[in-house]
This record gives sequence, C-alpha cells and structure tokens, in this order.
Amino acid sequence: MNWHLDVHPAEERKEILSAVERLGPWYHSFNLADWLKIEGIHDGDSVLASLDRLGFPRDFSGKTVLDAGCNAGYYSFVAKRRGAERVLGVELDPHYVRQAQHLSNLLGLDGQFINDDAHNVDASLGTFDIVICTGLMYHIPDPTNVLSKLAAVCTDTILIESEFLLDPALTSMGRFIEGAYMGDPTNWWIYGPQCLEGMVRAAGFGSAEFRGFYYEPHSEKSPEGIPRGGRGFLIGKKH
Ligand SMILES: C[S@@+](CC[C@H](N)C(=O)[O-])C[C@H]1O[C@@H](n2cnc3c(N)ncnc32)[C@H](O)[C@@H]1O
Repeated sequence: MNWHLDVHPAEERKEILSAVERLGPWYHSFNLADWLKIEGIHDGDSVLASLDRLGFPRDFSGKTVLDAGCNAGYYSFVAKRRGAERVLGVELDPHYVRQAQHLSNLLGLDGQFINDDAHNVDASLGTFDIVICTGLMYHIPDPTNVLSKLAAVCTDTILIESEFLLDPALTSMGRFIEGAYMGDPTNWWIYGPQCLEGMVRAAGFGSAEFRGFYYEPHSEKSPEGIPRGGRGFLIGKKH
C-alpha cells in the first residue's frame, strides 16, 4: 500500500520519526515513505495482496466499516484509502489504540479508534456495512458470542482472516488450545474451514464461504507440538 506521506521539512520529519519510535514496539509494519518505514512483525502489504486475490474488497466506497481487533489500524486505513466513509477500529490493547490514533492523524485518514473488547461490541457503536475481522478469531475464547455481536451490528459483509486447520479430514472440527500455541497463550482456537463457515451462519449471517488458504505449512508443528494451522480467508454475507 502506498500511503503517500509527503513531508518535506527535515525538522518535521525528525519529530515524526521520534514519535514513531516513542509509540513502539509495533506489530503492524507500515511503509509510509522512503524515509519512514515502521518495522513490525506483521507485513500487511504482503497479506493484503493474498487477501485481494481471495476476494477482499478493492472498493469500500461510501461504506461504514468496523475493524474488530484493529491493532495499529492497517486494515482500517486500507478501507479508508479504498473509499470507506466511516471506519471504527476496536482494539483491546491501549498501546495499539494509541498507535492507530497517531497514524490516523498523521495520514489524515479520519479513522476512529477505541479501546474495548470485541466481546462488548453493540448497537451503541452504530451499524456497519462491512466488518473486518482479521487475525482475531483465534484470540477469542468465546467465538460464537463475539460472532453474534459482530453479526448484530453488520448489515452486509464480514471479512474473516484467520488460522485454519489444514487437514481436509478435520474441516468441520475446531481445535481448542489449552496453554500456548506458537508461544502465545492468547491463542485459543484453530478452526476447520467448514467449522468456521457454520459458526458464521449460526451467528446470524445468511451465507459464509471459505475462500481459500494463502499460507499452508503442511506437516509442520508448532514449538508446542501442535500441527501448524494455515492462514485463510472467509467471507460471510448477511443476505
Ligand atoms: C494478530 S493481531 C491482528 C491485528 C489486525 N487485525 C491484523 O489482522 O493485522 C490481533 C489483535 O487483536 C487484538 N485483540 C485480541 N483480543 C481482542 C478482543 N477480545 N477484543 C479486541 N481486540 C482484541 C490484539 O490486541 C491484537 O491487536
């Protein structure tokens, strides 16, 4: 994504660079300009290229968008850049909310970012044509609850990027993780593609379609000895 951050005075650039440093560490990487690269763990640009191939909307014109578990706002900003009218990011960790708010101002993108738990999403936030839910579903201990809350505020489409079980024989299953997965104790679930489709429909969406994997580490195991999941994309539609 080219963010076109155009700042010329050296003094201003210095201030921006020191604010980025102060707001770290970052999970989201941003290539904001040749003089301003935010180095995180998550390379949104390469994931977005894969999601675009799997049906992530290239046009958000006039849409209202909720980005659940938005982190520093990468996908919120993509939606805005692609024409969204309103974008609200909900993020559990205040450290990331500060990053998202800062970048929103810096890029002049007018996103709204709040510090809250996706389990608390309700109509007081408004309704949204599109809900973005990337990298969140496996961090949620109570996923059917959260999906129902997201369905209640979504009028059209939910975009879910997640870890998925790779074994086709397990497609209708979900794996509950007790302890850590990939060194992270906040990982709770890995879903089979058909399992998550069913959960999305049960939560109140009229249809759900797994669009495919973009990362498939077959036969690898996590450091905890659990078979590695793949990364894939699923789109749910209200009607
Ligand atoms: C793997 S990151 C994904 C970030 C971003 N959506 C993306 O795809 O790059 C998961 C994010 O969800 C946030 N998160 C975890 N549990 C949450 C919850 N219950 N409510 C809101 N955000 C949550 C984490 O703090 C983290 O920023």
